[in-house]
Amino acid sequence: MAGRIPQSFINELLARVDLVDIIDSRVPLKKAGRNYSACCPFHNEKTPSFSVNPDKQFYYCFGCGASGNALTFIMEYEGQEFVAAVEELAGQQGMEVPREASLGSNFNQNNELYETMEKVAAAYQLQLKHHPNSRKAIEYLKNRGLSGEIAKQYAIGYAPPDWQNLLGLEKDQKALQENLVKTGMMIKKDDGRAYDRFRDRIMFPIRNRRGQVLGFGGRVIDKGEPKYLNSPETVLFHKGRELYGIYEMRRQLRNIDQVIIVEGYMDVVALAQYGIYNAVATLGTATTSDHLLTLFRICPSIVFCFDGDKAGRAAALRALNHALPLLKEAREIRLMFLPEGEDPDSMVRNIGSESFLEQVQQATTLFDYLFEYLTSQVDMNTFEGPAKLVHLAKPFITEIKEPILLARFQQKLSQLTGLSEKQLESTLEPGDIDTQSQISQSGQNPPTYHNENPPPEYNTQGHQPQQTVETPPTAKPKQSERNKAPFRRAIALLLQYPDALPAADLGWLKPIEELGAQMLYEIYKLISNNEAATTAILVENWREKPEYPHLIKLANMELHADSENVHSELCEIFKRLEKNYLLDQWDRLTEKLRNGTVTGAEKDQLKQLQKAIYSK
Ligand code: GTP
Ligand code: MN
Repeated sequence: MAGRIPQSFINELLARVDLVDIIDSRVPLKKAGRNYSACCPFHNEKTPSFSVNPDKQFYYCFGCGASGNALTFIMEYEGQEFVAAVEELAGQQGMEVPREASLGSNFNQNNELYETMEKVAAAYQLQLKHHPNSRKAIEYLKNRGLSGEIAKQYAIGYAPPDWQNLLGLEKDQKALQENLVKTGMMIKKDDGRAYDRFRDRIMFPIRNRRGQVLGFGGRVIDKGEPKYLNSPETVLFHKGRELYGIYEMRRQLRNIDQVIIVEGYMDVVALAQYGIYNAVATLGTATTSDHLLTLFRICPSIVFCFDGDKAGRAAALRALNHALPLLKEAREIRLMFLPEGEDPDSMVRNIGSESFLEQVQQATTLFDYLFEYLTSQVDMNTFEGPAKLVHLAKPFITEIKEPILLARFQQKLSQLTGLSEKQLESTLEPGDIDTQSQISQSGQNPPTYHNENPPPEYNTQGHQPQQTVETPPTAKPKQSERNKAPFRRAIALLLQYPDALPAADLGWLKPIEELGAQMLYEIYKLISNNEAATTAILVENWREKPEYPHLIKLANMELHADSENVHSELCEIFKRLEKNYLLDQWDRLTEKLRNGTVTGAEKDQLKQLQKAIYSK
């Protein structure tokens, strides 16, 4: 098994290729100022919102949010795996891809697991046709109105009742069992033996956008408990990320202008049976932001389809919270509620596809639903009604990131409450921005402040706790949060302007456990050790880590900085961060001083800290 490709090679590869050439040979680019632009190859559009930045070696689509470096582009555009994309780019440069000596890279291990899953899915499909017990499964599916063709498109299969059916797939049972356990298809007992998770069930393979099988949903035939058994979270399968039916939808439809999110496997399949292919299902979990972002990359319009019962309303509210921050430009979200006792499967059978689609078109927009929900919570005819409404709206307002939508929301709120927008504004001051400025001011306070007024909680303005009761339930700032915004800003600045790194020693960042500090330190080291560092190269170092999407965001964020000022801004931030770090230490030790648990060495440390802080 080939080893991992060294990160240093990938960094060098990215330093040599030119993203503009790579994209231009596939999607012709036009020069637009410093950047290049084209109609986005990842979603349908008539006016170009896809932009390639030659300095950053990074592309970004203002329409669908697609973004990344040369490797991401090859992967997304040509549907290739990471390793294949590296090999293609390296080949063009005449570079040979080296491998680390260590056994097995993640990618190759996963490749093996994907192969196993593919075999399992094929076996289940075969068993649906030929296994002596599969008749009742076929009967059941037929009774629910599914054609053989749809069953084939969705690769529906049957898991026989045997306990070790899957071990028959390969000769080398030891290796196979290990892979089957890793993918959740077998469950291992204490004695080392393993048995099949899914037995005597109708099997729905869950595939990713590329068609690779990640897991399964298994339904009992007819009645029984539990109705569905789903694959557990594995290295391949993350419920919060995947959507059932996304691969089949994309294979069936060339142009997708709207996606319907439903709750069940059978809903997706039944809708497809009625010619409605643009439905996907979450996998027994609530819809996450990841789900929504995945769909927004495909098309700008999403319709949630909820049951009309209480649970459906609650799910709608949760979805609302995830969806609000993602709304911008052409993006649209609608909510559709079915009559009680119905699901999309039964609905489309009752009323047919045409009427069903009509109802989809009439679905409530997210904002109309939000106002409907808010006003249903208060009696607007009472004296307090409008005030209550504002109070309820507050937490939602902080979630709206798009300025135009925010303005419209406030306008509507003002109409409803009879308060002028000015009056509203003063009551709606977002709490955390307040806190943020309090926090940064504290950096300028001399340390003696803490002794004069030992605060039980970090609070520079001496607010009484009662006064904070009215603010939305955002967490009170912890001490380390005084650093949050500057870390973020520094990371974003360095990602976008690596050349502006000041010659300061940032070694003091190393012991700070906070994620922001750790990331900043890593980026600082990468730039210091790599003269050619670009945005593309820096971001690449996080591809496999959970912070990756966050870094992509920072790499594309509008910073309102020009390259001349970045250097001095970074100097300022580093100075302030270091001082805050010293202040945090100071807080920690003075707390101990108050408790009487301070040691002699710590007292000395306090004195040195005081000196250091004054000198900054
Ligand atoms: P049918 O009852 O066959 O029409 O299935 P459905 O797809 O309509 O399922 P339903 O609306 O009852 O549930 C929606 C989704 O929730 C399913 O597709 C599963 O993902 C999940 N789910 C339902 N029942 C169970 C269960 O018993 N266990 C687990 N883990 N998930 C379930
Ligand atoms: Mn159903």
